Amino acid sequence: MKALKHKIIQEGNVLSESVLKVDSFLNHQIDPVLMQQIGEEFASRFENAGITKILTLESSGIAPSMMTGLRLGVPAVFARKRKSLTLIDDLYSAKVHSFTKNETNEISISKDYITSDDTVLVIDDFLANGEAAKGLIDIVYQAGANLAGVGIVIEKGFQSGGDSMRNEGIRVESLVIIESLENGKVTFREEKTTI
Ligand code: G4P
Repeated sequence: MKALKHKIIQEGNVLSESVLKVDSFLNHQIDPVLMQQIGEEFASRFENAGITKILTLESSGIAPSMMTGLRLGVPAVFARKRKSLTLIDDLYSAKVHSFTKNETNEISISKDYITSDDTVLVIDDFLANGEAAKGLIDIVYQAGANLAGVGIVIEKGFQSGGDSMRNEGIRVESLVIIESLENGKVTFREEKTTI
C-alpha cells in the first residue's frame, strides 16, 4: 500500500534491527486520513468474504479496525488486556505472550460479541511472532465462529508470525511487509526498496 509505505519512509524510526517506531501515525498519535485509507484497503481485500465482525486487541489495533468496520458496515470488537470493571463473566480468554516485552497477558472478550453465527476478520497493527493474532484466532475458534482471515497493517517478514499462519492455511493480508531493519534502514519485501 503506497500511502503507508510513504508514511513509513517519511516518519518511521528504526530503533533496532527488530523494532520500528511509528508513534507519529499508528501507535501513539493517529493519522485519521491514513487510517481511513487503511480501512478502505482492508475492506476491499475482504469485501467478498462475508465478514460480520472485526476482532482486534487494544490499543493500537482499534483505529484500523474501526475504519475497516465503518467501510464494511460491521462492528469492531476489541479484546481487553486488563481486567475491566464491567467485563466480568461469560468471557472468552486466551494467553498472549509478548517476546518483545517479555510478558504474558490474558486477553478477553465478552461472549456477547462473537458468536457461532459470525464470520470474523482479525486485524492488528503489527505482526511479529504472531502471538497476538494467534490469541485472537483462538478466541474466534472458542466462539465457534468462522475465521475469514487476518489483516495486518505492518508485518515484519523477518519474524515468524506471518509465515507460520500462512502455512496453517490462514489468509493473511498485510498492507506492507518489512523484509529487514538492518543498518538502520527499512527494506520492504516486494520492491526491496530501502530508506
Ligand atoms: P506478536 O504479537 O506478533 O508476537 O508481537 P510481539 O509480542 O513481539 O509484540 C508485542 C507488542 O509490540 C504489540 O503491541 C505489537 O504490536 C508491538 N510490536 C511488535 N513489534 C513492533 C515494532 O517493530 N514496532 C512497533 N511500533 N510495535 C511493535 P502492544 O503491546 O499490543 O501495544 P499496543 O497495541 O497497546 O500499542
